[in-house]
Amino acid sequence: MKLAHKLLFVLCPMLVLGFICYSSGKLHFYVWGQKPRYHEKTTVKLIKVTSHTTNPTVRQEPVVEGAVSVGRIVGSGTALQQRVHSGQNENPSTYYGRPVFDKQGFLLNPDIKLPPELVYQYGNLSEGACKPGYAAAKMTAIYPKFSKPASMFLDRNFRRLAKVSNYLPPFGFKTQERIIDSILTETKNYGLPELDGLSCKRCVIVGNGGILSNKSLGSRIDEYDVVVRLNEAPVNGYTRDVGSRTTLRITYPEGAIQKPERYEKDSIFVFSAFKPLDFKWLRQMVLKKDLQGTEGFWKSVARFVPRDPSEIRILNPYFIQEAAFQFIGLPQNNGLMGRGNIPTLGTVAITMALHNCDEVAVAGFGYDMNAPHAPLHYYETVKMSAIKESWTHNISKEKEFLRKLVKANVITDLTNGILTF
Ligand SMILES: *[C@@H]1O[C@H](CO)[C@@H](O)[C@H](O)[C@H]1NC(C)=O
Ligand SMILES: *[C@@H]1O[C@H](CO)[C@@H](O)[C@H](O)[C@H]1NC(C)=O
Ligand SMILES: *[C@@H]1O[C@H](CO)[C@@H](O)[C@H](O)[C@H]1NC(C)=O
Repeated sequence: MKLAHKLLFVLCPMLVLGFICYSSGKLHFYVWGQKPRYHEKTTVKLIKVTSHTTNPTVRQEPVVEGAVSVGRIVGSGTALQQRVHSGQNENPSTYYGRPVFDKQGFLLNPDIKLPPELVYQYGNLSEGACKPGYAAAKMTAIYPKFSKPASMFLDRNFRRLAKVSNYLPPFGFKTQERIIDSILTETKNYGLPELDGLSCKRCVIVGNGGILSNKSLGSRIDEYDVVVRLNEAPVNGYTRDVGSRTTLRITYPEGAIQKPERYEKDSIFVFSAFKPLDFKWLRQMVLKKDLQGTEGFWKSVARFVPRDPSEIRILNPYFIQEAAFQFIGLPQNNGLMGRGNIPTLGTVAITMALHNCDEVAVAGFGYDMNAPHAPLHYYETVKMSAIKESWTHNISKEKEFLRKLVKANVITDLTNGILTF
């Protein structure tokens, strides 16, 4: 042990010295008239420095302190400094070829071209065909940290999901393992039998926004392979605007449809937990047992879900965690639910789709905070102003995230509500 420590103490300064020598070697190169080129590894370091020090308000000036000072050591020395002072950085999203990121790790003004191999692959597809891997490729282009694999639902191996096993609901399932086991023993199904076999899946997330009204988008929505609806958003009576098919209905107890006859026939009931009590509710629903008491819920909840256990799934809580902490940048609050750190179910569903669909569209998203009298939902008369009372969400921060997705064409917004408001 001691020897190893000593060795490390010697090795570290040597590495640092070696690095400086190597860099100054490069420096001389540039002085002799060559265009600066940045070493890959240094780029990564710089990104880290900038992403922590970049203040969103100084976005217009991607020349960040950290980048400059580190740049002096590793970069092109005098040549770099001269160019900084003469302000010759052509592309505001890069700092002399280095990408610049916002706090969440999204590229500022990204180059959203698809990788050549996908351009080649898509070139062979007929017009309008589903493009395999499209949403994930676009997402990676604006958010290089994106890693696609994340299963839609929990299965019997859920304990191995490292990213969620140490968080309490809603960001993980810690303390709920046994009850989840008992639920999954009943449901026995953990995927989407017919859809998992498709080589290319197109998904549409239908939000509940009043913006869906009178746009006659129903037939367009019905064309998607996977139609995702949220909570109690109705279909009957609104099919012209919202479509008639429902593949998945994602819901939490307070949002679930209460009248059994209002459940559509073929949809999968996808449960999303926001608090530990929610799992107890789901167990009763799966077992078709009575609820003992409903204190702890913030409004009345469904007491019966007319679904066979095989038609029930548990949404992977990773999507709540990733949406909150990585994509939107809501307060971590030590991993606990707190003021303004819960993403809305719509954004959670979009996050799920980015991982599990090849193309992603949304409809019925976007609130206009400046129009307090516009309808909040397409199916009721609650006004916009009602949402201001919500302490759990941060709609404006969430909108920033959705705008990045729409701007870069990661998702298609069928109702154009995300960019216009
Ligand atoms: C595209 O089509 C060409 C000609 O038909 C074929 O040679 C090529 O392999 C195809 N590329 C892909 C990615 O399928
Ligand atoms: C939609 O159209 C109906 C009938 O024309 C009208 O009564 C209603 O106010 C419209 N809704 C919205 C949100 O514009
Ligand atoms: C939403 O986020 C902004 C910026 O971080 C913050 O100023 C605001 O207080 C947050 N709102 C809520 C409801 O937490």
